[in-house]
Amino acid sequence: MANNKTGFTSSFGVVMAAAGSAVGLGNIWRFPYICGQYGGAACLFVYLLFVFLIGMVLLMTEFVIGRCSGHAPEKAFPALYPKRPSWKLVGLFGMFTCFLILAIYLVISGWTLGYFWESVTGTLSSIANDGFKGHFEAFVASPWKPVVFLVVFLAFTLLVILGGVQKGIEKVSKLLMPILLVLVLLLCVRSLTLPGASKGLDYLFHPDFSQLTWKGILAILGQALFSLSVGMGAMIVYGSYIPRDSNILKTATWITVCDVSIAVLAGIAIFPAVFAAGQDPAGGPGLVYQVLPVVFNSMGTFGQIFAILFFLLLSLAALTSAISLLETLTAWLSDRGMNRKLAAVLVSVAEAALGVFVAYSFSGGMLSHFTPGGMNLFDWVDKLTGAYLPPIGALLTVLFFGWVMKKEDIYDELSNHGVLKVSWFKVFYHILVRFVAPAALIISLVAGIFT
Ligand code: PHE
Repeated sequence: MANNKTGFTSSFGVVMAAAGSAVGLGNIWRFPYICGQYGGAACLFVYLLFVFLIGMVLLMTEFVIGRCSGHAPEKAFPALYPKRPSWKLVGLFGMFTCFLILAIYLVISGWTLGYFWESVTGTLSSIANDGFKGHFEAFVASPWKPVVFLVVFLAFTLLVILGGVQKGIEKVSKLLMPILLVLVLLLCVRSLTLPGASKGLDYLFHPDFSQLTWKGILAILGQALFSLSVGMGAMIVYGSYIPRDSNILKTATWITVCDVSIAVLAGIAIFPAVFAAGQDPAGGPGLVYQVLPVVFNSMGTFGQIFAILFFLLLSLAALTSAISLLETLTAWLSDRGMNRKLAAVLVSVAEAALGVFVAYSFSGGMLSHFTPGGMNLFDWVDKLTGAYLPPIGALLTVLFFGWVMKKEDIYDELSNHGVLKVSWFKVFYHILVRFVAPAALIISLVAGIFT
């Protein structure tokens, strides 16, 4: 069994580490622009529904699979249902998804670290307002900048993993997560006190249901799962580190609440500022790098400080998520018998290689002409990991949980072997796990892909 000896030391540690995994670029970089694309509060409403009805169910599902089996995803499924070892394919599918996510994560984190550096050195604040688009394009097309920052970011991540589960992951998460909350609150206060801020709040909280297409719904579902780090086995690994006496329902609720709150707070920090500076809120993936610097510049002397704080916030959020991705892949290999440190280093080298390919896919970059189906490599990986792969992984996982795994094992795990009262179990198991979650996942996948 992986837990207790090498797992997290307390429920608080679990919440900080798993919330660290959940809160990341998905919350601060992607969530606001998805809200911008799919109808503001209408998107928020569907998102909350998905997060609490499907995302949280999956979070508990993965925790139970991890803690009950004591294994990383590939071995976890067959351990709980030895009759059909082929269920390990679901675990392997998750590892593939994690591998792709980490690659694109490293690229975006590299940009973020680069922007943090440029805001510290003052490069960013010396650019004129109409120059940020060009600056971002030049940055991502540069042959060395994205790669250097990618490697530095990866080195930090690897260092934490080499420190181990307790002394690395748990310790760093307990330190960074509270800092993150303070940073995002500070930025909210600044943004809300800018003249004209209410327009941004209107934009975020005014529902426009006409923008909600099936494609949009699938994108929001994908985002809800991506944001909670479920559907790819990462939470199975963290689940195997949860202490035996932790209450899985309570931990999962805390993690979900943290994740949603930070996403909404990020929206509150970003949109009012964007409107106050007269910028375009539908800036898409470039919103954070092309639009926000203009906002910071227009804040006068303190703008540089807020730019530093913002890119620091984004880098730290990305770090705790990258840590969990690297840990998932490392735990998978070490569960198969490889030395843990060697596994971490090997995965890092492979990720750096794929990351560099992805980083070079922008106009001006070496792989910019490689555009199968009209999309570059970055857009492919972003689409796959953001919208398609997590719902597929989630569907397979929840089908296993609801229809294959023994109900008594699940009950035992959720009640800590009869110690906790779980009167909600019937609703959870018979309605949400077996019917609501699979149905919602199938409908959104089919409709999102074929309409
Ligand atoms: N949840 C992270 C985010 O929102 C991304 C992530 C996915 C991290 C899967 C770990 C595993 O950015």
